[in-house]
Amino acid sequence: MTEARVFQPTLTICTSANEVAIAAAKTFADAIRQNPKTVLGLATGGTPIATYQELIRMHKEDGLSFQSVTTFNLDEYIGLSADHPKSYRMFMQQELFDHIDIAPQNTYVPDGLADDVVAFSKAYESMIQDSGGIDLQLLGIGSNGHIAFNEPGTSAQSRTRKIGLADETIKNNARFFEHLNDVPTTAITMGVGTILEAKRIVLLATGESKADAIRCAVGGKVDPECPASFLQTHPDVTLIVDKAAAAGL
Ligand code: PGA
Repeated sequence: MTEARVFQPTLTICTSANEVAIAAAKTFADAIRQNPKTVLGLATGGTPIATYQELIRMHKEDGLSFQSVTTFNLDEYIGLSADHPKSYRMFMQQELFDHIDIAPQNTYVPDGLADDVVAFSKAYESMIQDSGGIDLQLLGIGSNGHIAFNEPGTSAQSRTRKIGLADETIKNNARFFEHLNDVPTTAITMGVGTILEAKRIVLLATGESKADAIRCAVGGKVDPECPASFLQTHPDVTLIVDKAAAAGL
């Protein structure tokens, strides 16, 4: 196998998490204004919430329209229905979709209750392709270096599929649930290969708990033990991080 070419991601270091959100939202708003039919890849978790709030503000105050935008979310917990309060579909409705003018039928989130996850995953990949592919993908990063739910050990070629969540991920995500035992242990996630097909990628990270992961993602070698390091094989990646997350660089 030939070694993949490695690129230097663009790095923007902001003084605060709020600045990260403003810079990220501006990147997304610019993309939408340039191409109103843009296809976005979206992420859940604590990090993008402030970015979504800024996009909502831009919609309400600056006339930013999502009317012709299509979105694909990275992942969903297996076993949670779309209307479960902790599902990622519900997260997206509450944190973004319910507050903007996006057409509901243009918002895709994997189905956590799919009977046949293999067939569903294939269909999700086809829907992304049929949309023309993702123009701009938003990512967070796990403290263990995961992107979407691609946990350490994931290959660069991985596609949308079922995955078991790492213990560290379950512990980190327990803050969104009442009890640790309530956190689902499996999910459907886009693969690293799926993510790398996006035309542009923007990864956000804030706080010192992400410093090691950011160091592995940007400064380390390309290694399946840090799935975010595969982003070095993509020619158009921007990392927008605060000082705390950049502390290891
Ligand atoms: P967080 O999660 O934004 O809640 O820190 C990021 C991730 O796990 O990808």
